Amino acid sequence: MQELQLKANSNKEENYKNLLPQIEALVLSEKDLIANLANISAALKSAFNWWWVGFYLVKQNELILGPFQGPVACTRIGIGRGVCGSAWQQAQTIIVADVEKFPGHIACSSASKSEIVIPIITNQQVIGVLDVDSELLNHFDATDQLYLEKLIRNISSIF
Ligand code: SME
Repeated sequence: MQELQLKANSNKEENYKNLLPQIEALVLSEKDLIANLANISAALKSAFNWWWVGFYLVKQNELILGPFQGPVACTRIGIGRGVCGSAWQQAQTIIVADVEKFPGHIACSSASKSEIVIPIITNQQVIGVLDVDSELLNHFDATDQLYLEKLIRNISSIF
């Protein structure tokens, strides 16, 4: 694989528009799931420099930590627990502007202040989540939701 082509000084939307086709090309030509999730996490981290970005996958009715970039994180999350477990239960993206105000938030890191979690859905089942944490309050908005959901949809054949 070639290096990612990241554009300096681009806004968030331009950054997503530039990055998504590159991530899609990277993972759709590789069959190994762990390799792909590791590269998606690395690509997102290098493009956006978020505090933590990575995957949890549903295994035996728990979310288990998968490939990620950032500090060490909780390894197991039950359904309905925290932001990740809630996005799993509701099968919907959740944006949390201030994690301290989210009932039951799981504080893996006290530096994390805001969060977006996108469920990964195949055959009408949530099979995992993409979790992104920021050390800034109110860091995620509808643009992040739009492009991260689009990314997960476009690469759903890797799961
Ligand atoms: N904060 C998350 C837990 C996962 S970590 O932040 C990586 C939550 O409440 O779901």
